[in-house]
Amino acid sequence: MAGVASNRRRRGSQPARLALLVVVAVAMACVVAEGKVVHVEEPHRRSMLANGLGSAPPMGWNSWNHFQCDGNGEVVIRETADALVSTGLAALGYKYVNIDDCWAEPKRDAMGNLVANTRTFPHGIKALADYVHSKGLKLGIYSDAGFQTCAKVQPGSLGHEEQDAGTFAAWGVDYIKYDNCNNGDLKPLERYPEMSKALMKAGRPIYFSLCEWGDMHPARWGAAYGNSWRTTNDIADTWESMIATADQNEVWAEYARPGGWNDPDMLEVGNGGMTNSEYVVHFSLWAISKAPLIIGCDVRHMSQETYDILANKEVIAVNQDPLGVQGKKVRMEGSNEIWAATLSDYRTAVVLLNRHATDEATITAHWDDVGLPAGTAVEARDLWLHKTLDAAFTDRMAFDVAPRSCRMFVLKPRHR
Ligand code: GLA
Repeated sequence: MAGVASNRRRRGSQPARLALLVVVAVAMACVVAEGKVVHVEEPHRRSMLANGLGSAPPMGWNSWNHFQCDGNGEVVIRETADALVSTGLAALGYKYVNIDDCWAEPKRDAMGNLVANTRTFPHGIKALADYVHSKGLKLGIYSDAGFQTCAKVQPGSLGHEEQDAGTFAAWGVDYIKYDNCNNGDLKPLERYPEMSKALMKAGRPIYFSLCEWGDMHPARWGAAYGNSWRTTNDIADTWESMIATADQNEVWAEYARPGGWNDPDMLEVGNGGMTNSEYVVHFSLWAISKAPLIIGCDVRHMSQETYDILANKEVIAVNQDPLGVQGKKVRMEGSNEIWAATLSDYRTAVVLLNRHATDEATITAHWDDVGLPAGTAVEARDLWLHKTLDAAFTDRMAFDVAPRSCRMFVLKPRHR
């Protein structure tokens, strides 16, 4: 009897079933109205893979972290392009050479066009783009969704979106970083779509980098308008800032994918404010987080240590892995953390991170946390020692990690 009663309860009464049928019919009508299938959240469904860019996180260089406004000029940009090529960084994937704020005259010309600063960019942006392209590289530029850029020395693109997108395309620009300063009380969600549309019409694929600092949770809507979106405020060249930035960005991991990436800001590696092992942590976390790898130091004069970090092919390969899965923190125990990301070919990237300022730690990664089935025996490649470890690991691996340092591995199941 008990079984019959519960069956009845599950099946419902006649009127209730009728009501359910009506609801289902109405819902279906919404979905297939006039034969057209209407998907949920249709306005946010567009993917910027459509512009053919950002299938992996972008790699390059930007003037801001090292030069800010002073020193941002065509000589530095040309010499940087030269240095990216001569050091081999370009061949490793660092292709974008990006001019940040303070490149334009304070006023538009009589036609309303943006004009390059005649003192710092005397030959103009088109000539610079031609030079950068002749080196096999790409040129990036910076504008703003508001009336002025953040440094307040040049106009923003508000109300001039199509005009500026056209100008950038005509100059041969390949990447635009679009900030969100000085726009009165306009919300970025009202203005970013404008520039996104304008770029689509401009006739040249231009990588669109949204720089809204995460205020309006751009991870939730950025992929419809841009190829990446800042999730944090500006990074500073300190351990505290870097690690806080990585944490804030990690929260949005589920939203990253080919064509649209979370951006925890540009690299500080080589700018002098952190120790070498702190910079190794910085680069490892950016790589496993599928962050844009945009160098922020002066590559014309970098130390061997800086170069060895930025040029670590194996760490770069984790960042550029075709699956495009952003790594997550999978376990925290005090100042010990384990970050993991699934890679292509059944591989897994793991970072064992010791955040403690003075104490060494033994950190154990359990397969349960990093997402490997129990009993899996793996081969571990140490990406900073460039060495495949002799031992096979099953179910866990434990390593001593120095203060404010990390170990980074790629794990690969062993064939039996
Ligand atoms: C904002 C951005 C920075 C930089 C400056 C330029 O603060 O977040 O990355 O572009 O503007 O003024």
